[in-house]
Amino acid sequence: MKVPLAALSASLLLLVSTPVAVAFKASDFKTCSQSGFCRRGRDFATRAKDNVNTWRSPYSVDAQSISLASGRALLTAAVNSALYPDIKFSLEVHVHEDGVVRVRMDEVGGLKKRYDEAAKWALAVEPSISAHTQWKVGASSARAIIEPKTKPGHEVVVEFKPLRVVLNKNGREQVVVNGRGLLHMEHYRNKTVEEPKVESPEEGAETQAQEVLKVNPNAWFEGDSEDAYWEESFGSWSDSKPKGPESLSLDIDFPHHGHVYGIPQHATSLDLPTTTGEDPFFSDPYRFYNADVFEYLASGTTSLYGSIPVMHAHSADSTVAIFNAVGSETWIDVAHPTAKSTGTHWISESGILDLFILPGPSPTEIFGQYSGLTGAAPLPAHWALGYHQCRWNYVSSDDVRGVQKRFDEEDMPFDVLWLDIEYSKDHQYMIWDKKNFPDPVEMTKDVAALGRKMVIIVDPHLKRADDYPVYKQAQELGVLVKQTNGNDDYEGWCWPGSSSWVDFFNPVSWDFWKSLFKTTKGSSWSWTESTEDIHIWNDMNEPSVFNGPEITMPKDLIHYGGWEHRDIHNINGMFLPRITSEGLIARGETPKRPFVLTRSFFAGSQRYGAMWTGDNLGTWEHMAVGIKMVLSNGIAGMSFAGSDVGGFFGNPQPDMLVRWYWVGAFSPFFRAHAHLDSKRREPYLLDEPHKSTVRNILRLRYSLLPVWYTAFRETSVTGLPLLRPHYVMFPQDETGFTIDDQFFVGNSGLLVKPITRPGVTEETIYLPEDNVYYDYFTYRIYRGSPKGRNVTVPADLHQLPLLVRGGSIIPTRDRPRRASSHMHRDPFTLRIALDGSLKARGEIYLDDGVTYSYREGHLTWRGLAIDKISRGSELRLLNTDLAAATPYSAAEGTAVTEFRPENPFQTGIASVRVERVIVLGLPGKPKRIVVEGGRELEWEYAPGAGAARKRGDSDGGDASVLTIKDPGLAVATDWAILITM
Ligand code: NOJ
Repeated sequence: MKVPLAALSASLLLLVSTPVAVAFKASDFKTCSQSGFCRRGRDFATRAKDNVNTWRSPYSVDAQSISLASGRALLTAAVNSALYPDIKFSLEVHVHEDGVVRVRMDEVGGLKKRYDEAAKWALAVEPSISAHTQWKVGASSARAIIEPKTKPGHEVVVEFKPLRVVLNKNGREQVVVNGRGLLHMEHYRNKTVEEPKVESPEEGAETQAQEVLKVNPNAWFEGDSEDAYWEESFGSWSDSKPKGPESLSLDIDFPHHGHVYGIPQHATSLDLPTTTGEDPFFSDPYRFYNADVFEYLASGTTSLYGSIPVMHAHSADSTVAIFNAVGSETWIDVAHPTAKSTGTHWISESGILDLFILPGPSPTEIFGQYSGLTGAAPLPAHWALGYHQCRWNYVSSDDVRGVQKRFDEEDMPFDVLWLDIEYSKDHQYMIWDKKNFPDPVEMTKDVAALGRKMVIIVDPHLKRADDYPVYKQAQELGVLVKQTNGNDDYEGWCWPGSSSWVDFFNPVSWDFWKSLFKTTKGSSWSWTESTEDIHIWNDMNEPSVFNGPEITMPKDLIHYGGWEHRDIHNINGMFLPRITSEGLIARGETPKRPFVLTRSFFAGSQRYGAMWTGDNLGTWEHMAVGIKMVLSNGIAGMSFAGSDVGGFFGNPQPDMLVRWYWVGAFSPFFRAHAHLDSKRREPYLLDEPHKSTVRNILRLRYSLLPVWYTAFRETSVTGLPLLRPHYVMFPQDETGFTIDDQFFVGNSGLLVKPITRPGVTEETIYLPEDNVYYDYFTYRIYRGSPKGRNVTVPADLHQLPLLVRGGSIIPTRDRPRRASSHMHRDPFTLRIALDGSLKARGEIYLDDGVTYSYREGHLTWRGLAIDKISRGSELRLLNTDLAAATPYSAAEGTAVTEFRPENPFQTGIASVRVERVIVLGLPGKPKRIVVEGGRELEWEYAPGAGAARKRGDSDGGDASVLTIKDPGLAVATDWAILITM
């Protein structure tokens, strides 16, 4: 390959240092310029950019080596590097049944093996290779039409020289891998200097660069020095890097997509800001290196507690996505070469290339494709969607009982009381501090007696004490993470002082950890001083190591299989909640749905429980960014998410606390939590009117539990997020592409815009379509327009901008109860928000909320729909059996069970009725309302005030309200109500 030296500026061979991001506690964490491989990767990209006309990737496919397998849908080939002819790489490109394309590249016969198991832990099932796709191999490229039936016009192309992988749709490039030539898999090498072979540079170009190239002919590509190849230090820590350089750089471009979303967890807007502009907080690439970043900044690219390497790229006519299955530290630059295109550059410290390209072409299909790979969040226990009360710490059994009593005295519902680390003796988790918790089982029973649960923290660091049975067992089994010598147990510092960590990559640890959660005595130690009403909070699982580099484990520690911590760091946090949740499922006679909250997570973590956004601050900025982070997690599969209500640090003023409760009530996971040093702030401590407002907020959450649970059923099957951003709901509406401060709740039709600023009394909310929206509380009508429009709604402290989209039916249970377990037989209210054609639809999904019997069809799933019949003079509201029409399938891959209407759950709720139907937006007073084929119903009608305004107005006045009083119809049976106009 020829590289004109004249094109190489001297500066490109020098290290370019990136500006240091201003970050709180910045000195604890690396910037890109402080991380050797990131620095190399970014410098590499700079050289390529400076020489864009001549830069050519040295990687090419050896056309002679191509072979096709699996009915010709799997292409394998050898890849060569022009710089290192003796180093060999392999390429595999798989086309899956659903059109997903998987690209794998590895070094073959290298001095060492690259880590290749990230996908193994992330994937829920091994994807099946397409039975329809066949590669066609030409002289310079290979092409495969993807699933001609389901993805018309989609094609994947592998170009040979240089290697490029492209997803095309109708001839247009959607995703381009290595289009800018930034692919670089640093091969393993010996520490002695190699003499790489390169083709001679062009003659006649005499520059300083040439001098450098004479000494090191690969400098144009790899830089002019072995920058941090063999060791690296940060602060007082040094990384021994026994494997030398092994990073992986890759450009992934979306030439026709101007917006990218995802790659949680970062504190950013949903529409990811570029990292190549002027903003000092976005001058470093987005970083994935799970860390205990307490008091993190409310805006920036720094790493937080979890990493999901999933990115959506979106435009008005297409959505595509990629899932880059890599578990090592990774940095991602995002740029928009034009307003309608995006370029990304991924730099990972180690591992193979294992990239999944999701063809979409809509957000809904992306969710199907991604959950087809990594699974969807399973349906949680119903109570887990209630309100959770936590603080660090409730200090004694009496404190726990006291808090419960105060909530009940104030008629404030809650479902779960939490205990943080101080319940445990010397921070030996599962061992009670008997001084303060003398009667843990009785205490838990007292909580459970009122229909509630407890969640108790179990962290991964084990106090190295010979009388701590959990540590002792792990040590004897030999399942603790090892020091760099691979033999001795690693010792680090965390809450209990000197600690060790279970290496969950070692399968021997799994049964041991699961058995800890047995509540009955067995052959080994288990937590007999617990009950099945206790669920688990897994914190500090990045892992947090107080005396480690960047507050985590040194990268050169050794895990099972001889892998370094560097290879698996971002996956590590996923195991603790995984094995813990498996332990909770296995602990009783009847498997029950576990609840496990995790702080650290990776792709696939959604299968094991909920996450929260860690140690936020009690500031308006953190309140606001928490919403965006929950949205971002949701689109990357991790729907069951929330942030600490009130902010972990600080003492929020009452107004702020109230606003945060509104945010929490519309988060999938709704928990208040507070730091040890903060003042008590349980909602019953508030003065009026704040106290009553929070009581109303809690009650609103409980009355809407049918909406949350029904939405979660859909999420658990389709992978669609619980909270849906605008670009997901209205993929063609460009205005919505940057909106992330309002969102829809599942498919329910609820549109929410929590207030995250002080002193607000009214707020604008964007309506994306030509439809009516109704204020949930006042029934005022707001009209959208075909091009979208902002409307202003009241938003005082006691109010929430919460609208119901015309065309929706919202089922609620409006009886105030102390906990959700007391609501299972409560009647329903249906709020019907008619659209302009007087139609609406909704759903109710119910099951026992606790066990897995829903997988055997023990459930109720109803479809509600209202429509005009008899040429418009009558409306019919129908309640039909959706479960019978659409056999229920559990997302986790459980077999579809035939649904029987007489299933025990459904017969058990035969008496649960609809007690009220409210119809909004009828054009006039009905003449008669009857149950079809039966009795007349009692009702009243209030005409809408101001509803006569002209159609173009955004404020349509108050809706007409028809209230049908107690129709006495069972929720679980088929019926119809006829409204004669
Ligand atoms: C850190 C967690 O993020 C926080 O929520 C918890 O209260 C403390 N650890 C103590 O366990």
